[in-house]
Amino acid sequence: MSSSNSLDEIRTTAAQAYRSALDDDSQQRASKLTASRTLSQNDIDALAVLEYAAQDILTKYHAAMRQMEVRLETLDQDLKLRQHRNPIHHIESRMKSIPSIFEKLERYKKSTTLEAMEQHIMDIAGLRVIVSYVQDVYDILNYLKAQDDLFVVAVKDYIGAPKPNGYRSLHMIVRIPVYFMDKKEEIPVEIQIRTIAMDFWASLEHDLKYKAVRSVDDMDVAAELKECSEIIEEAENRMQVLAAALEPDRMAQPKPHAVSRAKTMELGPEFALPPGVSGPFANPRPSIVLHGCRRPRA
Ligand code: GTP
Ligand code: MG
Repeated sequence: MSSSNSLDEIRTTAAQAYRSALDDDSQQRASKLTASRTLSQNDIDALAVLEYAAQDILTKYHAAMRQMEVRLETLDQDLKLRQHRNPIHHIESRMKSIPSIFEKLERYKKSTTLEAMEQHIMDIAGLRVIVSYVQDVYDILNYLKAQDDLFVVAVKDYIGAPKPNGYRSLHMIVRIPVYFMDKKEEIPVEIQIRTIAMDFWASLEHDLKYKAVRSVDDMDVAAELKECSEIIEEAENRMQVLAAALEPDRMAQPKPHAVSRAKTMELGPEFALPPGVSGPFANPRPSIVLHGCRRPRA
């Protein structure tokens, strides 16, 4: 077997393991396959080169991710100081692994090169911002849009238009300037902003999707999950109304910085908004009140 074939096989197996969201079986299969493999010197050299070259790139993305996280923390601290509330519950960060990056390039039918990775993969660095209320999601989006050195590349609003399975969250790609010894680069970071309730649904759905051991005859699992999402949405809208009624000063949001020089543009179809949505605030579903206050049910 040529060295590139065996490398391909390792990469494909690793990518399959990753695609299955690190489920135990495929991880075991992947480690068995690689554990018993005798790598040629060429394989080892090629892996070392790939790892070394990618590390260089990944370091930049890691720096961008950390800087973006600090910006979000700063925003949260400022809101605490001035409005006595911390909209951000917590922030999670992750770097996409090399197998996962290459699997995505293949899925999007792009060449599997480091150049293509930088050109096409916008979620190498990812942050997940968990906030209290739906309104906080859009406020954070606006505060980030108002920072004039950030470049909001794309916004996908799965709150205004949830995915058919009930997934709700706001995704954005933001380029943040990172300064090096002799140059500045604007590095993309994917930011997912969602409420505690949306995160609760997404975490359980993700777990169930990969860990369910059997299907249930008399239960339409997909419909059940979707209904849970709708119940959660209704509950959190009511909680937001309650919060606005109980803490009108703290929930009343001042407009973010008056002048926004942040630029927004759309990338290719990969980053298009879901059908029927033409912008982050377009077509909010009637049951969601984003910037207002709906009266609680009698
Ligand atoms: P990938 O990034 O390759 O997944 O494709 P994409 O960029 O077209 O997808 P999108 O931006 O819509 O969503 C990417 C991420 O959002 C995933 O990696 C998950 O973290 C999250 N996500 C999207 N859809 C779902 C879903 O149905 N359920 C859960 N639990 N998470 C989802
Ligand atoms: Mg993505």
